[in-house]
Amino acid sequence: MPIIVFGSLNMDLVAQVPRLPQAGETILGTGFMTVPGGKGANQAVAAARLGAPTAMVGRVGDDSLGTLLRDSLQAASVATDEVLADLGPSGVALISVDELGENQIVVVPGANGKVDRTDVKRLPLNNAPSEPSILLMQFEIPLEAVIAAAEQAHSRDARVIVDPAPAQSQLPPEFYRLVDILTPNQTEASQLTGLKVSSVTTAMEAAQVLRQRGTSTVIVKLGSQGAVVASNSEVFHVPAFQVEAVDTVAAGDAFNGGLAVALWEGKSLRQAVEWASAVAALSVMKSGAQASMPLREEVETFLLSHHSGSLLA
Ligand code: ATP
Ligand code: RIB
Repeated sequence: MPIIVFGSLNMDLVAQVPRLPQAGETILGTGFMTVPGGKGANQAVAAARLGAPTAMVGRVGDDSLGTLLRDSLQAASVATDEVLADLGPSGVALISVDELGENQIVVVPGANGKVDRTDVKRLPLNNAPSEPSILLMQFEIPLEAVIAAAEQAHSRDARVIVDPAPAQSQLPPEFYRLVDILTPNQTEASQLTGLKVSSVTTAMEAAQVLRQRGTSTVIVKLGSQGAVVASNSEVFHVPAFQVEAVDTVAAGDAFNGGLAVALWEGKSLRQAVEWASAVAALSVMKSGAQASMPLREEVETFLLSHHSGSLLA
């Protein structure tokens, strides 16, 4: 399978609020929706909607949410043969989104927390060295499973892209050399490096710190400030597209799904990051996690209207 996502599926319970509440405070919300999410499943839907053959490997609970989560992936043409149902609850995320599109998220892992190294055997990694798979992972499943999958992927020449979200401050040293592309946002880059990452300059510094630990390419996602890329041969900034943000939940997932598809199609790293930025920009213009992932035609129309038609090749 060209694109494989090993990660989480959550049902998102989303409240629209005038502003994010403080500790101990109760506020009135202005709207509510229940929508499929989870960083893993979001990235799978993003990739599949862009036209890449994509499979999800993970776990849901034996509740009605699990059925809905699997259905949502299937509706986007993601292969779900390796999404198992465990006894117990599915993962859920309690999300508040304010009027500026900022959010706060609590994730209760449920079945995602039961993913372990035995699941790694179920990854449908390509056997042909000429067509290696791309494996996308995040940190909403246990780290030991992520590391075991990265080891397995490396032994099969697959490319490993890890979104280290939610943030963790300590990762084992051997983790970094198992990852080809690490894509922290500014909070995650700060936690991993101990630097305060808030600008293009500080993101470049953090990216170099992470590269020195063994990951060859680091992309620091900076929300509306775009993304900073550091690889063996170059360091550059890709500005975000100027759009009106309605809901930034899963912008990072849209970015990673778009990045994987672009690399699979043979785009250069710079082109792939520009393409991923367009996918993410389109996602912030819509509400919901999986529901906000654009179709390929939408990305192409967007790029043409933003004078970036050269990325369509
Ligand atoms: P999330 O955790 O919500 O999935 P993230 O924190 O991992 O997202 P961000 O840095 O917020 O990721 O965003 C990822 C990418 O999405 C950015 O690098 C940028 O290209 C795009 N993006 C995010 N916010 C905006 C915005 N307001 N306008 C345009 N593009 C945006
Ligand atoms: O990245 C966005 C996702 O984070 C949401 O869909 C929610 O499920 C949380 O996992």
